[in-house]
Amino acid sequence: MPKLLINGGRSLQGQVTVQGAKNSALPLLAATVLCKGTSYIHNCPKLSDVYASINILKYLGCKCTFVNNSVSVDTSTLVCRRIPDRLMLKMRSSVIFLGAILGRCGNAVISSPGGCELGPRPIDLHISALRRMGVIVKEKHGFIEFDAPNGLMGAEINLSFASVGATENIILAAVTASGTTVIHNAAKEPEICDLADFLNSCGARVNGVGSDTITIYGVNKLKCTSHTVISDRIVAATYMAATAITGGEIVLNDAIASHLTAVNSVFEEAGCIVKCIGKKIHFKAPKRLSSVPKIRTTIHPGFPTDAGPLILAMLTLSCGTSIIIENIFENRFRYVDELKRLGANIKVEGRVAVVEGVRSLSSASCKCTDLRGGAALVIAGLAANGTTIIDDIYHIKRGYEKIDYNLSLLGADVKEI
Ligand code: EPZ
Repeated sequence: MPKLLINGGRSLQGQVTVQGAKNSALPLLAATVLCKGTSYIHNCPKLSDVYASINILKYLGCKCTFVNNSVSVDTSTLVCRRIPDRLMLKMRSSVIFLGAILGRCGNAVISSPGGCELGPRPIDLHISALRRMGVIVKEKHGFIEFDAPNGLMGAEINLSFASVGATENIILAAVTASGTTVIHNAAKEPEICDLADFLNSCGARVNGVGSDTITIYGVNKLKCTSHTVISDRIVAATYMAATAITGGEIVLNDAIASHLTAVNSVFEEAGCIVKCIGKKIHFKAPKRLSSVPKIRTTIHPGFPTDAGPLILAMLTLSCGTSIIIENIFENRFRYVDELKRLGANIKVEGRVAVVEGVRSLSSASCKCTDLRGGAALVIAGLAANGTTIIDDIYHIKRGYEKIDYNLSLLGADVKEI
């Protein structure tokens, strides 16, 4: 199994270009199913989750190519409407294909989504919304059948939680439904705005994304187009946290500062200098990081749950006590025990992690528990004295393209073996 080998103690310097956003690319690839013909998605990161989505598209009968971060999807030969079990279970977010397949075919079959490393990941909000849009849902043993015998109808939907995936699935089902759909308490993540930009460029009528209320006026059909994926705000935060913990100074190219306001204010509270100029972020770490008394993860535009592990890893070397309260996922701190192998002083009680900063970390062998938990181990390993070995890095490959290459460009001593 491949591992990452990190010789820590080198401060990061230089420039790095931020990859396209995984959490935008996945719903965009699903959305191509709604357009009969060939769509192009540019700036698509080379990630295992993207390859898994392309495999689903091929399984459905589409023809796909993926060259130099550009994906072409020809859906004219789409025949199937079932997401294969093995792929559904491999990548939980493949539930995002549900709305698109329903919008194109009027029915769909998926296997019941397993949980994931972050805890149970139900899809009750997706199901109740689709039922309101005229979909008959039959939960069978191990899989779920969705059928809209009279086609999808627009509906008024109140989300009890501003779920990103549910908001995206409703939009995908609503763009070619008959009538108008209104989503109250919608998620406001930038990736949802990116999805709406793509759909509107295909002729859809999606209004209000980025606010609590999204209105979608159904149209008859969508035409194929090309779209460039926005840059990945969590990957940007990862490079900033890696620079912060190693006392370095970098410039991020292709970063979107407006997507990072909550994260950047935490970096500044920890003593970092964050200068946003156009699509560049100039980031400089202090000599020693200050602790951040309280960080609460929440929905956008608040502090994102996915940046929690990155900031927690950085704060292991700050002076003082920091507290992170995780409000989105039940089981987000599984990586903490691995971080403690490097000498971090962290106590976890349920959804609260208390970090007592230490003077130094020491290298160890550790293993990834999930995607962002794996990134947290890389961040700590970059600052630890000695050689840290990180196993199960397939988790990291789900969300980071060439993380070893990019960190080496910034002066880190990181090798995949
Ligand atoms: C998206 O997951 C992201 N994934 C996650 O990123 C991100 O952490 C999350 O949004 C929150 O921002 C993708 O976009 C592919 P949710 P999603 O629906 O859509 C509960 C990463 O690291 N819930 O907002 O699954 C659910 O159990 C990943 O890139 C229900 O109870 O997030 C969870 O506790 C990790 N019922 C919470 O809501 C539902 O029907 C957040 O879920 C749906 C969700």
